[in-house]
Amino acid sequence: MALDRRVGVIGGTGQLGGAIVRGWLSSGVVAPENLWISNRSGINTAFPEWGGITFCTDNQQLADTCDVILLSVPPAQFGAVDIDAGDSLVMSVMAGVTIEDMAGKTGAKRIIRCMSSPAAGLRLAYSVWCAGDGVTAEDREAAQRLLSACGVADEVPEERQIDLFTAMTGPVPGFVAMYAKCMTDYAVNRGIDPAVADRAIRQLFLASGTIFAHEKPTPADHVKEMIDYAGTTAAGLLAMRNSPLYDSIEAGLDAAVEKAQSIAR
Ligand SMILES: NC(=O)c1ccc[n+]([C@@H]2O[C@H](COP(=O)([O-])OP(=O)(O)OC[C@H]3O[C@@H](n4cnc5c(N)ncnc54)[C@H](OP(=O)(O)O)[C@@H]3O)[C@@H](O)[C@H]2O)c1
Repeated sequence: MALDRRVGVIGGTGQLGGAIVRGWLSSGVVAPENLWISNRSGINTAFPEWGGITFCTDNQQLADTCDVILLSVPPAQFGAVDIDAGDSLVMSVMAGVTIEDMAGKTGAKRIIRCMSSPAAGLRLAYSVWCAGDGVTAEDREAAQRLLSACGVADEVPEERQIDLFTAMTGPVPGFVAMYAKCMTDYAVNRGIDPAVADRAIRQLFLASGTIFAHEKPTPADHVKEMIDYAGTTAAGLLAMRNSPLYDSIEAGLDAAVEKAQSIAR
């Protein structure tokens, strides 16, 4: 059932805003006639499959009309989004822009800071959200419905945790692409045709992701099971466990979190 609220996306024709809009429209959680999108360029042809969306270039007009406003402009553009949010619920997927920043700039009294990913367009995003003071039970329900229409969504208790997810699950395929590249390079460096290596590793990640999505064992359970089996993979995993792999992943994620914390400053 569609949400009974008018929803506006400032930056709804961008990479992330557009993906979220696609997730909403394809799931039916937002009806096209309840959806407003604003941008500077006036592009209004982004979602030709759905008629009835209202496009505008006036962010304040969107804010005045919509019960829920999603901010999805680049952090550097946030300063240019000069709106008075009035009584609307403000949601944001902007990296590094805090609830305090948004309250100061928009005057909003109900703010939910979120993080999602462009996988929202395929309804495969992992999204998190954190509610500021003043957010009502109905707002929480609306946020969970809007974000879970784009994949899977969880509320987190502390705003600083949003930065961790900005680094970990905001970019898709993000860090997973790095691991896939390492495996592809390994195969190519040992004489496998690059096209075959590419196909093999893509299929490996598709199968692995699908198993994680549909079967109960956690990644840690799988690692333990393979080590206990004591076969070829166990030999590889034990060698990896004794290498600096964990440290490299931790250092990479720390650097990305640090960037997420400072990107809007
Ligand atoms: N892309 C990702 O993978 C990803 C992942 C996690 C979080 N995010 C966050 O999502 C936000 C958007 O990123 P993006 O990658 O989607 O950026 P993007 O592709 O550059 O899109 C930005 C959108 O904002 C519009 N826009 C820019 N300035 C505006 C203004 N002053 N008023 C109204 N509309 C404006 C742009 O349209 P016009 O140019 O026509 O104005 C466009 O629709 C960022 O804050 C980023 O931190 C992105």
